[in-house]
Amino acid sequence: MRLRNIPWAREAVAADSRCFDSPDNTKGCWHRIFGRKAPLITEVGMGKGRFIVEMALKHPEIDFVGIERYESVMVKALSKLDRRAAEGEPVPENLRFLRMDAADMPDFFEKDEIDRIYLNFSDPWPKIRHAKRRLVSGRFLSVFERVLKKEGTIEFKTDNRELFDFGLSEIGPAGWELLYSTYDLHSDTEAMKDNVMTEYEEKFSKKGNRICKFIIRKK
Ligand SMILES: C[S@@+](CC[C@H](N)C(=O)[O-])C[C@H]1O[C@@H](n2cnc3c(N)ncnc32)[C@H](O)[C@@H]1O
Repeated sequence: MRLRNIPWAREAVAADSRCFDSPDNTKGCWHRIFGRKAPLITEVGMGKGRFIVEMALKHPEIDFVGIERYESVMVKALSKLDRRAAEGEPVPENLRFLRMDAADMPDFFEKDEIDRIYLNFSDPWPKIRHAKRRLVSGRFLSVFERVLKKEGTIEFKTDNRELFDFGLSEIGPAGWELLYSTYDLHSDTEAMKDNVMTEYEEKFSKKGNRICKFIIRKK
């Protein structure tokens, strides 16, 4: 995602009660933050938040945390919610935001705290020397393993075939099993019944790119 720095973004995120950026009041505290015991789902690299906002509205029985590295991107998700409220549209109460790098997730979540992680159109990091930065690398899969429930799943979507195949090649050696895989999600009628489009998914599928998806669970 091309990033335009927004000078006031840091302050806006720090002042917003929907946002968190410190492990002190988050790790092991998510049930308290949401005020109930419900399944917890995260999207890592949520961008402008279209997917997670729609998921939270669609599933009021689940709590959602949108994770994003950059404040300048996160404020777009916050503005989206503010706009909805101003226009009298429903705003999800079961959604919070974490400004952090995904590598730090074990500082922000207790072991077994998360039920599912969505990775949508993660940055491809095409250079070999940057492979460890890919969110579907063995390095990140072991980070996610430390916060996911034993039966927890990771759902990954991308239009980038190289990144998808790289992810597929990482899951076996990292000790994960493949529950579902397709190179053309949008032609899978059954899978599409529950599909919520992301910003990137809409953009790239309109261009004619096929969307790949896999779902994995720890063995
Ligand atoms: C290509 S965008 C996709 C946005 C959205 N998920 C979608 O599908 O429309 C990837 C987003 O992931 C964020 N991101 C990349 N690596 C990250 C990391 N290690 N931790 C947190 N966020 C990350 C980027 O800042 C960017 O906003």
